Amino acid sequence: MMKRKPLFLYSLLCSLLWACVLAPSLSLAAEQATVAKQPWSFRGIFGSFDKASLRRGYEVYDQVCASCHSLRFLHYRDLETLGYSRAQIAALAARLEVEDGPNDEGEMFSRAALPSDRFVAPFANDEAARTANLGALPPDLSLIVAQLAGKGGADFIYALLTGYSEPPESFELTPGLSYNKVFKGNAIAMPAPLFEDMIAYSDGEKASVERMARDVAQFLAWASDPSLEQRKRIGLRVVIFLTLFFVVAFLYKRRVWARVR
Ligand code: HEC
Repeated sequence: MMKRKPLFLYSLLCSLLWACVLAPSLSLAAEQATVAKQPWSFRGIFGSFDKASLRRGYEVYDQVCASCHSLRFLHYRDLETLGYSRAQIAALAARLEVEDGPNDEGEMFSRAALPSDRFVAPFANDEAARTANLGALPPDLSLIVAQLAGKGGADFIYALLTGYSEPPESFELTPGLSYNKVFKGNAIAMPAPLFEDMIAYSDGEKASVERMARDVAQFLAWASDPSLEQRKRIGLRVVIFLTLFFVVAFLYKRRVWARVR
């Protein structure tokens, strides 16, 4: 009997270790050293998105990034998750025009966007987007945090948006490009998009460059992985269930074997 106790303890320790240490670090494993880690509320096993920050992040995307970047996997109705009412979403969508059709006469027509439409892209196609941006394509931002996970994901977006400065003396910057300390080659075709107080947040928060960068990076992390919270909740329940199940199974086994001599 004495010999079995350590085994039980080891198993319990292993499941706790997995839940608290290994599971959260799996998602962190890919980050790069040069990009500073930010204290995101959605990190870790109990992490969840900060809804107020997500709403501000949407405002930054809508008022700044949306003039160059599409977000084509999101639908306006997805904003309900951020706490917008249906009426607010209908009004936000209706500001934009989409092409629909054909109508009964076989013609395409424009109409105001509906909550069931995808986010309207700023350019008709990639060629138009390149032409407006020195030949560089502003990437679609729907999955950008997942696509840039190897560089740091949301941490990289924050570092990129706050990483603009004058180039060092020795650096030869191609005219039209901007110096950015985390972009590959340090010369980016995206001009610094954020300036102090350039937008008025509807919750009254001060729109500093850092605040806007943090909010929009979190918003894009949500866009890349909208089911993160649900997945974490389910994962946690599974770990708790397995731990309890293990305890019950162990006690039951002890009881059965106690009669065997
Ligand atoms: C004036 C147009 C313009 C605006 C406004 C703009 N971008 Fe960009 N963005 C670009 C272009 C062009 C590129 C491609 C840069 C390149 O390849 O050199 C780009 C690239 C990016 C990238 C990819 C970087 C990489 O390493 O691959 C991210 C992320 C990004 N933008 C985020 C944003 C966010 C967030 C905003 C809003 C705060 C924003 N952009 C506003 C034009 C813009």
